[in-house]
Amino acid sequence: MANMKVRIGSLELANPVIAASGTFGYGVEFADKLDLRKIGAFATKGLSLKKRAGNPMPRICETPSGMINSIGLENVGLDAFESEKLPLIRKTGARVVANFFGETQGEYVAAAARLDAMDGVHALEMNVSCPNVEKGGIEFGSDPVLLEKLTASVRKAVRKPLIVKLSPNVADVRPLAMAVQNGGADAISAINTLKGMSINVRTREPKIRRVFGGLSGPAIRPVAVRMVYECATTVKIPIIGLGGITTVEDALEFLIAGATAVQVGTMNFVEPSICERLADELSKWCDAEGIADVNDLVGSLKLG
Ligand SMILES: Cc1cc2nc3c(=O)[nH]c(=O)nc-3n(C[C@H](O)[C@H](O)[C@H](O)COP(=O)(O)O)c2cc1C
Repeated sequence: MANMKVRIGSLELANPVIAASGTFGYGVEFADKLDLRKIGAFATKGLSLKKRAGNPMPRICETPSGMINSIGLENVGLDAFESEKLPLIRKTGARVVANFFGETQGEYVAAAARLDAMDGVHALEMNVSCPNVEKGGIEFGSDPVLLEKLTASVRKAVRKPLIVKLSPNVADVRPLAMAVQNGGADAISAINTLKGMSINVRTREPKIRRVFGGLSGPAIRPVAVRMVYECATTVKIPIIGLGGITTVEDALEFLIAGATAVQVGTMNFVEPSICERLADELSKWCDAEGIADVNDLVGSLKLG
């Protein structure tokens, strides 16, 4: 059987398939749908120091081959995560990537330091698709100088593997990937959702109360594959690729483009056990193709 183990910094995963943040709750909600030990890891819903109620409804709508969401980063906050969710998560034996965010650099650092100290959190994933309230609302993930500073200050505060999740809503992702590497992160995940909008032509209202939302699902996959390739050919740290993964072939596309691991998001809503199925199919695919180690696929794109 082919080796399926991959490494993200000091973290070894049993296989490269991870459930993506915001589409897998706090993991425990999925414990009766799949065997959490059989997937590489899962990422929690984005966590902040204080709990958040999120945006007014409607905050999701379907679009061609995808969906738009504007949940507004609703989450239980770090106190409830630690006291109520983590004890249940630990019992599942899952590998846990804690996704987190803040509105200021100080909030990011404080949230990261607390998660770093929590038993049962194996890695941290920093969502930088958030406005910096101290800098007039510019997103942390859209300015290389801001992003390198943020990454470096969080890096200093944590010992666990630090993954920075990039926003696709930029003209060129490469300087941002470089900023993350220079800031000392262990890995990059790419991509978060693409800014989108959809209108109900009968009522002439936006389908999302907050007008804009994040587009995800198969519709964004070619954009995501392109950005993963751009990141992988720019930096040396591992890339975790995501955006519209639905089949084992989709996951393979990301690995060949240069991703060491992949995440599955929106499709968890369609098929809650998809991560376990794709991990199994990836292993079988490698065996059928005579590939001894899944890592041999990473960045194996052939250019003419
Ligand atoms: C309903 C929903 C909520 C999400 N919440 C978060 C979040 O809290 N933090 C984060 O980093 N990404 C969040 N995402 C983005 C996903 O993790 C992922 O980057 C994106 O959806 C692209 O992957 P996909 O096409 O497989 O869904 C969310 C996505 C959806 C659809």
